[in-house]
Amino acid sequence: MSTQAYKPSGQDNESKIRNCTQEDFHTLCSLDWDPLPKERSSFYLTITTEQAELSFISEDEDGEFLGVLLTTRSADGLSCYLNHLLVESRVRGRGIGAALVERLKGECRSLGIKRIWLITNKGRKAFYERLGFEEDYSFFIPSIRNYIQVEKGKLIMRAGL
Ligand SMILES: CC(C)(COP(=O)(O)OP(=O)(O)OC[C@H]1O[C@@H](n2cnc3c(N)ncnc32)[C@H](O)[C@@H]1OP(=O)(O)O)[C@@H](O)C(=O)NCCC(=O)NCCS
Repeated sequence: MSTQAYKPSGQDNESKIRNCTQEDFHTLCSLDWDPLPKERSSFYLTITTEQAELSFISEDEDGEFLGVLLTTRSADGLSCYLNHLLVESRVRGRGIGAALVERLKGECRSLGIKRIWLITNKGRKAFYERLGFEEDYSFFIPSIRNYIQVEKGKLIMRAGL
């Protein structure tokens, strides 16, 4: 797999990425997460623990919120789970989501993390494939794989770093 950073065609050079902090909690709660669930407990657990070093906010040059990426690191330190990725609907398609994922990949590499995992739906598959993710169910017994794919209609994807 290529380790070269993916450069989306619509890259927005006016945005910058910083670590997520507790100050961002109320912003995260105020966002329109539909069709994703608004998991407040997950927000504050992520941003009040050491996970925050792998969670990011994208904002414009005036500090206006553009997007967020929240993760959890595995206990063995070798994997990272991408819990939430959301870009404001008014600025989608400008490379902000891709830039957040690339930032995560870079930080994970520097911390010795080997894999990033996520669960998503078919509509997002192409977005993540462009960013180096592929479907991987190798850690699941067949019945759980069937539950994820058939009953829930979801995909498990992994990027190796
Ligand atoms: C999915 C999401 C995060 C993408 O963010 P974004 O900033 O709009 O995406 P980008 O502009 O970085 O897109 C990067 C590339 O992926 C493509 N892409 C974006 N969304 C896509 C989709 N749903 N399907 C296929 N390709 C997609 C873009 O066209 C772009 O390709 P290009 O470089 O060839 O132009 C954003 O649409 C979003 O917040 N959606 C609602 C929440 C959500 O679904 N989150 C993911 C849950 S797993």
